[in-house]
Amino acid sequence: MIINDEATIAPTLVSLGLPGYYYFHDEVFAHEMRTVWRSTWQCVGRESELPNPGDYLTSLIGNQPLFVIRNACGELQAMHNVCRHRGARLFEGMGNCSVVRCPYHAWTYDLDGQLQGVPQVHLFPDLDKSTVRLLSAQVDTWGGFIFVNCDSQAESLMSYLAGFPEYLKQYDQPWEELRRVASWSYTEPINWKFIVENYVEDYHFSTVHAESLHSYDFPRIRTTTTGRHCQITVPYTAEKLAKMYDAMTWEPQRLSYQGYIFPNLMINTDLDHVSVFRLLPLSPVRSCIEVLIYQTRAQMEAFPIDPDVFQGKFHRVMEEDFAVCRLLQANVHSLAYGVTKLAIERELGIAHFYTVLSE
Ligand code: FES
Ligand SMILES: [Fe+2]
Repeated sequence: MIINDEATIAPTLVSLGLPGYYYFHDEVFAHEMRTVWRSTWQCVGRESELPNPGDYLTSLIGNQPLFVIRNACGELQAMHNVCRHRGARLFEGMGNCSVVRCPYHAWTYDLDGQLQGVPQVHLFPDLDKSTVRLLSAQVDTWGGFIFVNCDSQAESLMSYLAGFPEYLKQYDQPWEELRRVASWSYTEPINWKFIVENYVEDYHFSTVHAESLHSYDFPRIRTTTTGRHCQITVPYTAEKLAKMYDAMTWEPQRLSYQGYIFPNLMINTDLDHVSVFRLLPLSPVRSCIEVLIYQTRAQMEAFPIDPDVFQGKFHRVMEEDFAVCRLLQANVHSLAYGVTKLAIERELGIAHFYTVLSE
């Protein structure tokens, strides 16, 4: 049960949305980590980043450290990044290994997580190695993206995605062929939910991004919901092929297929690249946003990207969004904080997000 100090003293000024303490309270955050972030499918990377047996990557799923590794048969396995001896972290970052070897006392596991080696094994007279393995998590892929889920009872990835893949397949580039060409991250003093809410509404575009996203045809942006997710189609204005900030190339007859896959993934297609934002809540009031830029081979040849220049240009839009999210975060302790009305159509994604959270 949530302790709500603020609510007990706050007058009932608001009827919509989440109370302010949802954006800073430790208990709410801990509850979200146990529920939302532990039992949903979340993207942790690309299959092409793990081409060979023994290749691994690590990730946090909420507050759960996991790693994904390609086993000797070439299959992906997801496991908790926790040694079964006394719980040490096994891996950091990415790499390749022939066996999983704990850096603390050197217990080793095969690429399927089965305990293999225990130094000075005579010190463990009761240990039956065959019964000890790293705890596994679910792993599956779509379009080259690797998704994991800590909940062994969870529905399948395709069921969870609820038609989102069919929506993305309208993009004219093969999703499996995307390779990372640039990436960077932000750590912002913002609760993760404000970042989502900002992403799934376009009502702010005409004030916040009037210049930076001027090639978007704001009135014709459409948001639809599917499952827990939001699909956002963005048409361009009728100008000729042009460059928006010299970062995003576009042409008027195209649509940008954008959207939010609950809870940690935002995807945006453009003529010359796909950008992906991966969200990681660090605390009730701190979030990491990883920006990943992908291109297919054809896009790399047609639209070569200088990662540093690209990041510099892209950064402007991100900063515009973070700046307004900080305005919300700055007021969550106010007795007057709240939502009076949500715009129809333009803030539909927020209403959906509240519904998903409440469920
Ligand atoms: S904690 Fe891993 S071997 Fe001891
Ligand atoms: Fe924005």
